[in-house]
Amino acid sequence: MDIKKRIDYLRKEILRHNVLYYEKQDPQISDTEYDILVKELEKLEAENPLFASSDSPTQKVSGTVSSSFKPVKHAAQMLSLDNAYSQEEFARWYERAVKTIDNLQPPSFIIEPKIDGLSAALTYINGVLVIGATRGDGETGEDITENVKTIKDIPHKLPISNPPSFFELRGEVYIDKSDFEKINEEILYAGGQKFANPRNAAAGSLRQKNPQITAERKLRFFVHSFGKAQDLSAQQIDFQTHYDFLRYCKTCGFKLQQKITVCKTFKEISDFIDEMTQKRESFEYEIDGLVIKINEYALQNELGSTNKSPRWAIAYKFPAKQATTVLNKIRAQVGRTGIITPSAVLEPVALGGVTISHATLHNFEEIERLNVNEGDTVLIERAGDVIPKIVKVISKSGEGFFRPPKNCPSCNAEIVKEDDAEVAYRCINPECPAQFRRHLIHFVSRNAMDIEGFGEAVIDQLLEKKKLKFLADIYNLTFDDFIDLDLFKEKKANNIMKAIDKSKNQPLSRLLFAIGIRHIGEKVSEIIAKRFINIDALFNASSEDFTKINEIGSVLALSLEEFFARDQTKRIIDALKAAGVNMSEPQTENAGRQFEGKTFVLTGELAKYAREEAAKIIKSLGGKTSSSVSKKTDYVLAGENAGSKLKKAKDLSVKILTEEEFEELIKV
Ligand code: IVH
Repeated sequence: MDIKKRIDYLRKEILRHNVLYYEKQDPQISDTEYDILVKELEKLEAENPLFASSDSPTQKVSGTVSSSFKPVKHAAQMLSLDNAYSQEEFARWYERAVKTIDNLQPPSFIIEPKIDGLSAALTYINGVLVIGATRGDGETGEDITENVKTIKDIPHKLPISNPPSFFELRGEVYIDKSDFEKINEEILYAGGQKFANPRNAAAGSLRQKNPQITAERKLRFFVHSFGKAQDLSAQQIDFQTHYDFLRYCKTCGFKLQQKITVCKTFKEISDFIDEMTQKRESFEYEIDGLVIKINEYALQNELGSTNKSPRWAIAYKFPAKQATTVLNKIRAQVGRTGIITPSAVLEPVALGGVTISHATLHNFEEIERLNVNEGDTVLIERAGDVIPKIVKVISKSGEGFFRPPKNCPSCNAEIVKEDDAEVAYRCINPECPAQFRRHLIHFVSRNAMDIEGFGEAVIDQLLEKKKLKFLADIYNLTFDDFIDLDLFKEKKANNIMKAIDKSKNQPLSRLLFAIGIRHIGEKVSEIIAKRFINIDALFNASSEDFTKINEIGSVLALSLEEFFARDQTKRIIDALKAAGVNMSEPQTENAGRQFEGKTFVLTGELAKYAREEAAKIIKSLGGKTSSSVSKKTDYVLAGENAGSKLKKAKDLSVKILTEEEFEELIKV
């Protein structure tokens, strides 16, 4: 390899990505891939000092200063942070830092979540906000004073009696995840290009020529570092530690992050890293790691900084959530109701400790919006345990986007485009085998008829042996049919026969959900079953009868009317009736009705109950559950790591119950 050539290439490439990331808010690679380029360049430069250059991006704070804004010279340089990608890398930083200051006092460490936003420096003169600036290249930033003034978390005047004559502090401008989703919805509605992540949305909203647009976006701000001050001591303010500084900022009217901690030992830090890695998704804003800082300012000064970053702090980065890979194939899958859903088969790529080979594509409109086709290189993102999604196309392999198939991939029937709210492409062949298979899977599932042991593998084998042609065939299956299947012995076959039999007694509400009526989920099934009690009443009802129920609007009512008018529905229900399946809803006779008319919202992780269990208890005591908090909510039952719903409950003064309080209430 020609080392000089590689170094030149890496420098150019890193600078190109800096412009894309900082100026255009349109990154073309994931953060991890960017960091890999920087690490490679750092290594080559360290091994070949002859090629070192003060112009190299490794020697400077990355970031750009756009000519669209007035430049602002920072009072003190705004540095970046070095990264550690594992506890081992962090341990190396820790050892080195502690060793360097060994002969002084033992350090303490302050740890803060690393907010995925963009840095801003705020200058207060005699307590009045006079300048707001981006980090820019670290020496010079962009003047965004009018824009930062629109951020509610930033005081225009410090609410203290003796402000320092000059005070410059730094922090992160960011956007909550929920507000990010809302902004994107609005942009999509207006026909614009969505932001790829909350960081881009925050940057795009802050660096606006028109501050009114900034004001419309719900930007937020957390202080995270000290810049420069004059006359602090004259005001008898003297912070010895970063913690003191943060507390002072609080008295100045700034918000601080909740999860800030001070640790003394490596073990404490390491445990905190583990805990926060687990809790990462429970934050209302994106965090991409933790920043570990030496707390004592005297020790920070002792360690000093390089051109680019302080030696007294390090960013511990969580496992990546984004990666780039090639989209090998787009598969069209047929759902239970015939909707054709595209999904992406990817060139396998490592992401956050697992290998990813599939991603969701939601619907064909999304494919058009992304302008994505087979063979394209795409940026994917995985948050928590959810299936990864495609954020955007990085490079195209050809022209245009993937078109919906004209025929059903299962039965070859013509696909119909329905112009309803779902933008659905649908196979309307009632005999489509793929739909029937999905229908069976749904029918036996836990929240439907709950037939234990009747998994997909069992269904596939029974379909192959032609034992299942109609839904009601489930109830005609015999012990011998099961004993014939792979991995079935006597006990298992007996158990599944018992489970099938037991499912015949499920209440009408479950049967309604299980037979799969378009738009009708578990909750509506329950409401209808409670109101109509017997299936025959449903066959006799009109859409007006359905709309009389509060929770049922015209779309659901029409769907119900249309479903019960079909000959096919009558045939299915008759066959199930003949097989002995219960067709009515038992009337509950509960001793306790203490939750009559009360609405609950469940949030966070409960220690003793699964969400479904808690919801069942509430229902059995006359209450109901809802997924969102409003003024009409009576109680919010909040477990561990409750997030935005808990906050909203507090804002609306809704009664919040701990799990213990809930247990007390249900005892009565
Ligand atoms: S301290 C000398 N604390 O991360 C730099 N930075 O990758 C001191 N960031 O430029 C920065 N959360 O914009 C610090 N709790 C936090 C942070 C944080 C996010 C950003 C900041 C910095 C970048 C470096």
